[in-house]
Amino acid sequence: MNLTAWSDEFSVGIKSIDEQHKKIVNMIKTLHDALDKGKAPAVLDKIINGLLDYTGQHFTYEEELFDKYGYPDAGDHKKEHAKLDKRVLKLKAELDAGSLKIGEVLLLELLHDLLQNHILKTDKKYSAFLVGKGVK
Ligand SMILES: [Fe+2]
Ligand SMILES: [Fe+2]
Repeated sequence: MNLTAWSDEFSVGIKSIDEQHKKIVNMIKTLHDALDKGKAPAVLDKIINGLLDYTGQHFTYEEELFDKYGYPDAGDHKKEHAKLDKRVLKLKAELDAGSLKIGEVLLLELLHDLLQNHILKTDKKYSAFLVGKGVK
């Protein structure tokens, strides 16, 4: 299965955030590989809990920067984070219920939306603003 790979076009120009985005993309790929290889439910559960945890931390990291520097688009951005959070939870519920095929479809959609829509569009919007505040 060919997944969208990380490339420099996804960079928001802030090192700490690029690192977090790469880690999330890698975690999604790890989960996808585990599904492909038919790994045990306990293994899938561990990976998805890690993903939930880490995406939560990442969203908080961005939102704290928005609050700290008064980013004007913070409200809409936070709403998108909340929607993405819900989708990871839905994915977890499907995997918990043993719906691996549905889980795989949701996972690929999530990866695509995260890269193509959230990072490339929504996250990129704060790039110039936060770089201008000296965030690295
Ligand atoms: Fe992000
Ligand atoms: Fe974001």
